[in-house]
Amino acid sequence: MAEALRVGIAGLGTVGASVARVLRDKAAELTRQCGRDIIVAAVSARDPKRDRGVDVSSARWFDDPVKMAQTAEIDVFIELIGGDEGPARLSVKAALEAGRHVVTANKALLAKHGVALAEIAEKKGVLLNYEAAVAGGIPVIKTMREAMAGNSVTRVFGILNGTCNYILTRMEAEGISFDACLKDAQRLGYAEADPTFDIEGHDTAHKLSILTSLAFGTKIAANDIYMEGISNITQADIRAAGDLGYRIKLLGVAQRTESGIEQRVHPTMVPTASVIAQVHGVTNAVAIETDILGELLLSGPGAGGNATASAVIGDIADIAKSRPGFQHGPVFGRPAKELRPYKKAQMRSHAGGYFIRLTVHDRIGVFAAIAKRMADNDISLESIVQHAVSGEAAAQKTVILVTHETTEAAVRKAVDGITKDGHLTDKPQVIRIERAG
Ligand SMILES: NC(=O)c1ccc[n+]([C@@H]2O[C@H](COP(=O)([O-])OP(=O)(O)OC[C@H]3O[C@@H](n4cnc5c(N)ncnc54)[C@H](OP(=O)(O)O)[C@@H]3O)[C@@H](O)[C@H]2O)c1
Repeated sequence: MAEALRVGIAGLGTVGASVARVLRDKAAELTRQCGRDIIVAAVSARDPKRDRGVDVSSARWFDDPVKMAQTAEIDVFIELIGGDEGPARLSVKAALEAGRHVVTANKALLAKHGVALAEIAEKKGVLLNYEAAVAGGIPVIKTMREAMAGNSVTRVFGILNGTCNYILTRMEAEGISFDACLKDAQRLGYAEADPTFDIEGHDTAHKLSILTSLAFGTKIAANDIYMEGISNITQADIRAAGDLGYRIKLLGVAQRTESGIEQRVHPTMVPTASVIAQVHGVTNAVAIETDILGELLLSGPGAGGNATASAVIGDIADIAKSRPGFQHGPVFGRPAKELRPYKKAQMRSHAGGYFIRLTVHDRIGVFAAIAKRMADNDISLESIVQHAVSGEAAAQKTVILVTHETTEAAVRKAVDGITKDGHLTDKPQVIRIERAG
């Protein structure tokens, strides 16, 4: 049998401790599958005394993950610390430069430094595997990098943040407000004490930026993502969406267009009958649309110790099975030096259908004025309905419009015009509609 593969785990928190546990519990199975033993030779975390719920005393302890990354006692460095700078970045860089394979679950690090790290890995002839960094346990990186050869991706989109999907699912199922759902999510451990990163779309954007690079062979451009979170989604939106045959999801979407690549994260209306609309709670899903395959949807657990560990272990097993000259190819699907510059499509030219909810004064002429603003901007309407705002005096009404395909620029101009006309009593709500199978 080949020599054992020696791994060093940096970070023994939710994911790191699960990885150590699965490597121990499934040792015999992994040896059978990989043709060699996988042993945890070294570990690093901040607190050497903390009980991790798994015995790692046979591994050498390192206070400094960078030192662990450089030691000749390991073949693979597993980074499960987190963060886009500091010990995570320094140790991953040190490991690659020392010729160690790296496995990481760190989307923030890859979104910011992925291309530079890939260049080092490719120069050194080592692997940088990151399946767990996007959609947790769902094998989306492997699918895009290995199983879709010859396909040209036209669009990739997904539910990439379990916290947001949990909140939107409960808002719809129970008719409760965003704030109440968020508090519950925090109580149950599905949302952080400071939830901004999740609910304003940053986490989704990090993951999307990695998928975009894989899909289109471009350099990662995490700062070029249009982003709107879910904190302004109300029960009125959710009810109106349901009445119209839609469900609201926070999607990350990357799409090739004539003017470049769109990367956007925003609340989106998807047809209630579509497959992605059936993805509920903390579950994640990624849809990949290509010229040959059509649309593929992968769904499953996007976070949690065991689900994430499953992806990390898959990456380690790939390294255990790989041999020089027979690996799974470049980090982002093509050599890092050949990744094309990212050409951003302007959000103003985004084409699609729109849902617009307006709260207006109940007076003669308002409805006609709204319709005129739409027509002036060449926006063709699929429907326009008005009804009294429930529980309010008849002084205001809600007008809900659904447009046929138009552009973001036209919608913004029309809504600005309506706002200037002085008919609105509240901020207008605009939600993009996404085609989904
Ligand atoms: N949790 C998930 O469901 C999930 C899903 C997908 C991806 N990820 C990614 O996986 C990574 C880890 O997440 P996590 O949830 O496991 O985080 P976590 O529970 O906060 O664990 C972080 C670990 O890093 C250690 N650490 C922090 N600073 C260190 C330093 N300077 N030197 C050595 N160790 C250090 C901590 O040590 P102490 O324990 O001693 O404090 C802790 O063990 C992140 O990149 C995250 O984005 C997580």
